[in-house]
Amino acid sequence: MSDITEGDRKIEWARRFMSTLESVSERSVESAALKGLKVGMVLHIEAKTAVLASRVQEAGAQVYLAASNPLSTKDDVVSALRGKITAVWARWGEDAKEYTESIERVLDADPDFVIDDGADCITLAHSRGLKSLKGGCEETTTGITRLRQMERKGELKIPMIAVNDALTKHLFDNRYGTGQSALDGLMRSTNLLIAGRKAVVVGFGWVGKGISQRLRGLGAQVTVCEVDPIKAMEAFMEGFRVLPALEAVKDASLIVTATGDIGVITKEHFDAMLDGTILANAGHFNVEVDMDFLESKSDHKREVRTGVTEYSYQGKKLLVIGEGRLVNLVAADGHPIEVMDMSFSAQFLGLLYLSRNVGRLRPGLIPFPQELDIQIAKTFLVNHGIRTDFLSESQLAYLGLSR
Ligand code: ADE
Repeated sequence: MSDITEGDRKIEWARRFMSTLESVSERSVESAALKGLKVGMVLHIEAKTAVLASRVQEAGAQVYLAASNPLSTKDDVVSALRGKITAVWARWGEDAKEYTESIERVLDADPDFVIDDGADCITLAHSRGLKSLKGGCEETTTGITRLRQMERKGELKIPMIAVNDALTKHLFDNRYGTGQSALDGLMRSTNLLIAGRKAVVVGFGWVGKGISQRLRGLGAQVTVCEVDPIKAMEAFMEGFRVLPALEAVKDASLIVTATGDIGVITKEHFDAMLDGTILANAGHFNVEVDMDFLESKSDHKREVRTGVTEYSYQGKKLLVIGEGRLVNLVAADGHPIEVMDMSFSAQFLGLLYLSRNVGRLRPGLIPFPQELDIQIAKTFLVNHGIRTDFLSESQLAYLGLSR
């Protein structure tokens, strides 16, 4: 019998396909570039996250990790991480108090930098005094939205790298990553056919675009709901039916929210839905589907399949996946490995950039440096054996560019 646990095997498997992160961090690991630094991480804790955390620790830092969502934590990965990094505080199904306490413990370690997903850590850090904290990196659109609000009010006191806005992050992670992982969560949790299903996707940002495309690819009839006129037009010209949500839900059997906003599916939508409608959320927080309303106004609820709750509401059954929390992590393993490989390469390089530029960056949201984006893309292409053309000298000159 080997001593390798299931968590170890998951991490080993993820690492095998995270060659971009391996390559971009190689020199930092060799030179222990992060030696002496404490790095707090508040991320979805699954195998790919473990690879990032281990890599940062291998580059010399002490890593303190807590979860960025109480239902995305994979306990076997947490167990496997103990001993690999300095500390980890997380448990699947932790309540709101334990969730916040775990982030407090990360901050109690007095980190120099934090890697955040959704900005819960950075907001908490600001509320209790920043102490040693010199900067951080933010993973997701919702986190960037929160940081931008703090910045506008003059409340953001340290530099925060907008890792989400890296091209090698959001163009791939938000679109193709969520496109696949949200479908993975829907299919694993229901085991139902997508083909022929009338599906509604609310929101046509990068996440909504990815989900709509992949649903269509599997044969669903997809309707898109969007408030932004340009995005609505994009959805229309992509060939999707575009409707206001209240009309779209009337004949849907599957509804997926991907807006990053609150109160997207509320009483009036529940009232208009068909019996048996399946609801899932792909946005960062569980605020898109009004779960408080469903909880309080349903006659009865029961778990009908792991992670699927059936609410009896006004004589019909509504089926909610993963308590309205992000379906790709609650009902599946998050984004595909190759996609998180790029996102976490951006996190690693963002952290390295912060550590090399202490005192030189202004407080506020810092755009992800373009040269790092290019480094990630080139490394990914080389590692995946994808060859490209290059501009000749005369082509460069014609465009007024130089090498
Ligand atoms: N795995 C780890 N972090 C993730 C994220 N933000 N989205 C999807 N999968 C993930």
